[in-house]
Amino acid sequence: MSTATDIRDQVVELAREFARDKIEPHAAEWDRTSHFPRDVLDELGKLGFWGMCTPEEYDGMGLDNVTYLMAIEELAAADAAFAVSIGIHNAIPTTMLVKHGTPEQRERFLKPMARGEMLAGFALSEPEAGSDAASLRAQAVKDGKDWVLNGAKAWATNAGTADLMMIMARTDAPNARRGAKGISTFIVPTDTKGYKPAKPEDKMGLRASNTAGIELSDLRLPAAQLLGEEGMGFVYAMEGLDAGRLGIGAQGVGIARRAIEHCLKFTAERQQFGKPIGEFQGVQFKLADMATRTEAARALAHRAAARKDAGEDITLHASMVKLFASETAMWVTTQAIQLFGGYGYMRDFPVEKLFRDAKVTEIYEGTSEIQRLVISRALRQG
Ligand code: CAA
Repeated sequence: MSTATDIRDQVVELAREFARDKIEPHAAEWDRTSHFPRDVLDELGKLGFWGMCTPEEYDGMGLDNVTYLMAIEELAAADAAFAVSIGIHNAIPTTMLVKHGTPEQRERFLKPMARGEMLAGFALSEPEAGSDAASLRAQAVKDGKDWVLNGAKAWATNAGTADLMMIMARTDAPNARRGAKGISTFIVPTDTKGYKPAKPEDKMGLRASNTAGIELSDLRLPAAQLLGEEGMGFVYAMEGLDAGRLGIGAQGVGIARRAIEHCLKFTAERQQFGKPIGEFQGVQFKLADMATRTEAARALAHRAAARKDAGEDITLHASMVKLFASETAMWVTTQAIQLFGGYGYMRDFPVEKLFRDAKVTEIYEGTSEIQRLVISRALRQG
């Protein structure tokens, strides 16, 4: 009989092999052409990776969160864009349906999501509502038993490629603007009439992931596609983001790890002043700091994931992970470019992609400033 450790080792090894064989060889090309590799994502879905922490009763793998983060790190080391396409799906929509879905909603949406048949995303932000997510304006109005949604969402991962989006909209009276209290979550299959994704954003990094705005025009949904309780959507979004922020932490760790691996190889080969630059103490000390910070970020992420597995509230810890790991990824990739020198700045070498991919980890799923706000609020509340 397999132990939990055996299962963890097998899953992480499978993710590593998949990343090495199916992602890594194509990542630079996908980045250059902004290609969304749905076929490769589907292949990973068939292996169970679209439902990593989804309980087995809903066709998932039922893994613990530490294993999940280790698998995401492997995928992100190969291509952070690929990792986020699957990370969002596993973290936010999945968490929402596991926690608040009805049996029918889990049957119809969660199970196919876990089986790799239905890719999901999450739309909270709007052009005028980023960090201040509770000020969102998309409006859902009751019409008989249906809900009719109108509005505009922004920067949603998978918006143009998902089969299903979890969409936050106001259900308080138009213009009542009850802040966080007036928001609900809707389960929206993307083939619903009135769902229109915008042209994919032309991004600095994560170029193989799909990021787009969404126009919602008279999008009609039956009452059965409201998630959980009316007016609780902001809380559900924040719960989802707690899970999501751990995944972004693992993504930052994967990016930083790969940058270090490239640097170790490069500094052993690159000769200046008659010897490999890796023999200079200035270079060795930089590598030592890069590796130490990355290991610290990984340890913080795994500790928070273990708390989640133990059923603890992790809002504070998820923000610490997201803050520290994303700033580590940015710092490490900046050092990596410096170690590569002129080569580091060139597209033919791998570290500039890692640098571009790292930047957004300090922005999406809550900026570093928002993470500091969440952490300081939690500290003051004790
Ligand atoms: N878990 C459960 N409930 C939570 C919660 C959490 N983590 N955080 C807040 N809540 C609850 C609060 O308890 C409160 O409920 P009560 O009034 O009943 O106590 C309610 O939600 C409102 O909370 P706040 O008063 O704290 O709300 P706020 O307006 O001050 O906002 C914020 C707090 C932390 C700034 C929040 O707005 C935030 O996280 N902003 C950043 C948004 C963000 O991360 N956006 C990224 C979008 S996703 C993305 O990037 C695209 C993508 O596809 C990846």
